Amino acid sequence: MYVCMCYGITDKSIASVVKNQGVGNIRELRQHLELGDQCGKCIQMAQEVIDSTIIDD
Ligand code: FES
Repeated sequence: MYVCMCYGITDKSIASVVKNQGVGNIRELRQHLELGDQCGKCIQMAQEVIDSTIIDD
């Protein structure tokens, strides 16, 4: 599923970075993936993907 339509970033890409790079918030996520600086609509969903990935581990 696409989280960021502007950059074509999926929930799987976000979950992978959270698991493999120890990303825990949006600021850290954006050091690895380009998302959120066009329309910004994806930020809330990206945060939810980060949170649920951390909880799942
Ligand atoms: Fe991510 Fe627009 S959907 S910046």
